Amino acid sequence: MVGVSVPSYGESMQIRAVDHPLAAARLTTLRDETTGNAAFRGALSDLTQMLIYEALIGAPVTEVPITTPVVATTGVKLASPPLLVPVLRAGLGMVEQAHAMVPEANVGFVGIARNEETREPVPYLESLPDDLTGQPVFVLDPMLATGGSMLHTIELLVSRKATDITAVCVVAAPEGVAALENSGYPVRLVTAAIDDGLNEVAYITPGLGDAGDRQFGPR
Ligand code: URA
Repeated sequence: MVGVSVPSYGESMQIRAVDHPLAAARLTTLRDETTGNAAFRGALSDLTQMLIYEALIGAPVTEVPITTPVVATTGVKLASPPLLVPVLRAGLGMVEQAHAMVPEANVGFVGIARNEETREPVPYLESLPDDLTGQPVFVLDPMLATGGSMLHTIELLVSRKATDITAVCVVAAPEGVAALENSGYPVRLVTAAIDDGLNEVAYITPGLGDAGDRQFGPR
């Protein structure tokens, strides 16, 4: 973990859960062990669209003058498009769709593997802008399990002065949610499900298995 000192925001973390039959149906596809890699990637992409939609509800917009084929009028654009940060490997399956939803967004990358013995995050890649002052950031990682990878990523962002961070996750475990809440970092969570908990090897249950393997095959 990166040693950074940030103010605690002292509020309970905002959690938004996508509550829609289509989201529930795509999540069912992801959970089903008979779903193959290609169908898994498709359902993950669809669900990412819904999560990004949810994450941007209420986002500030700027008015822009436009002319329709009929008349001059006023439209809007996002005032501050979020920096999209997929956490490799599993977050790769979310970034294309998130970018399609917010084409003007910049994209950073964080790579974190998991030590299967200690279950500790093992960072191997960091490609982020140096200064994130005033920049909203969406961290894309399908699984919020122990919260170790997400916290490492948030610490990288906070050390670059980010103060507006959204964790965009398909499935969260209560342990991961608690880790974010207790961190005191300026983060909110958008997810499609908060599952029962972690099993003895820190997989989310019922969960959907290894989100990286299910997209790309075993390492
Ligand atoms: N990472 C995954 O891909 N799945 C889990 O259940 C937990 C961590």
